[in-house]
Amino acid sequence: MKILITGGAGFIGSHVVRLFVNTYPNYEIVNLDKLTYAGNLNNLKDIENKANYRFVKGDIVDAAFINALFETEQFNAVIHLAAESHVDRSITNPLEFVMTNVIGTVNLLNAARVLHKANPDLFKRFYHVSTDEVYGALGDEGMFLETTAYDPHSPYSASKASSDHFVRAYYDTYKLPCVISNCSNNYGPNHFPEKLIPLCIHNIQNNRPLPIYGKGENVRDWLYVIDHARAIDTIFHKAQLGTTYNIGGHNEWKNIDVIRLLCQLMDKKLNRPEGTNEKLITFVTDRAGHDLRYAIDATKLKEELGWMPSVNFEEGLNLTVDWYLNNKAWLHNVTSGEYQHYYEQQYSSR
Ligand code: NAD
Ligand code: TYD
Repeated sequence: MKILITGGAGFIGSHVVRLFVNTYPNYEIVNLDKLTYAGNLNNLKDIENKANYRFVKGDIVDAAFINALFETEQFNAVIHLAAESHVDRSITNPLEFVMTNVIGTVNLLNAARVLHKANPDLFKRFYHVSTDEVYGALGDEGMFLETTAYDPHSPYSASKASSDHFVRAYYDTYKLPCVISNCSNNYGPNHFPEKLIPLCIHNIQNNRPLPIYGKGENVRDWLYVIDHARAIDTIFHKAQLGTTYNIGGHNEWKNIDVIRLLCQLMDKKLNRPEGTNEKLITFVTDRAGHDLRYAIDATKLKEELGWMPSVNFEEGLNLTVDWYLNNKAWLHNVTSGEYQHYYEQQYSSR
């Protein structure tokens, strides 16, 4: 089986590529990534020379390039993760999210459709990796089910919702063999330090303020990234075509509680007196249209396909902080240059 994984140099994609390359020596894994600010081949150093792995640099928005790649490579399946993924950036530059997340996805669907039409036995599966943010925001009660109506609020979630709709439309209209999963917030190694957890790990290390939007009351449902990669493996191999699965860890936390826990953990790891890091917490202007609460009901995935998270939050956070402390060069690399400019711009106005 020759599988195209898009966005494999990013946070989640790198864990998916590693899992597939190591677990399935008989598969040929082709990682297609544009290497935007979020893509980093250092995330894959340990597997880059494996015989069943190849990297291709390219842009999913470039239809001619994508069509030629599919024609040459004759993929048997696609696992599509490439995206612009940060809500705050989508507020500043929505069009980039439309281009990559919507147009890029439709380009891949079109190329897959050509292969499938020519030979339905050759092209077996288009797996689209999506987010729970398409469902919108919850109040204090309830959870997102696979049947929850889409109600995206940010330009990021609107672009992901649109791409999900296109995937379903290609299944319904052209019988393209598709599967979708919608996952909650991930955390873990290789996470770019613009998202809440890695940003705060980075800032604690450097004694910089920890910017908490609003009052820190917003709730997210956190899943360790390797558990997401395991779920993708399970769904890719076992899901019935045309289905959707929610992925989540039944692990809801208010942002302020996540950051307090992180501060306490890092007081210990950095040998700082108890309470030192919490003094860095700084409440800043809220994000525009900030979704109050996300919570995933992943019962379908558990009952139908047998997947369960393997790492609890305290363990996962511990592993994550250790990874960042042991990979200072990685962090230094991704926070040099452009990052400083982005960071100053992002927080100077708050
Ligand atoms: P990321 O931003 O870390 O990585 C995205 C990758 O896509 C990068 O390697 C980037 O270089 C690549 N990319 C971006 N534009 C591209 C283009 N035009 N052509 C080719 N490659 C391009 O994102 P992530 O957090 O790893 O998310 C991966 C996928 O999972 C996304 O589709 C996202 O919507 C989804 N998702 C993320 C989360 C989360 O918590 N991070 C949760 C649920 C779903
Ligand atoms: P984030 O990691 O950006 O993920 P998402 O917006 O996709 O959920 O944000 C997680 C939560 O943390 C979200 O409620 C916004 C909040 N947040 C902050 O309070 N401060 C920050 O600096 C960032 C980046 C996020």
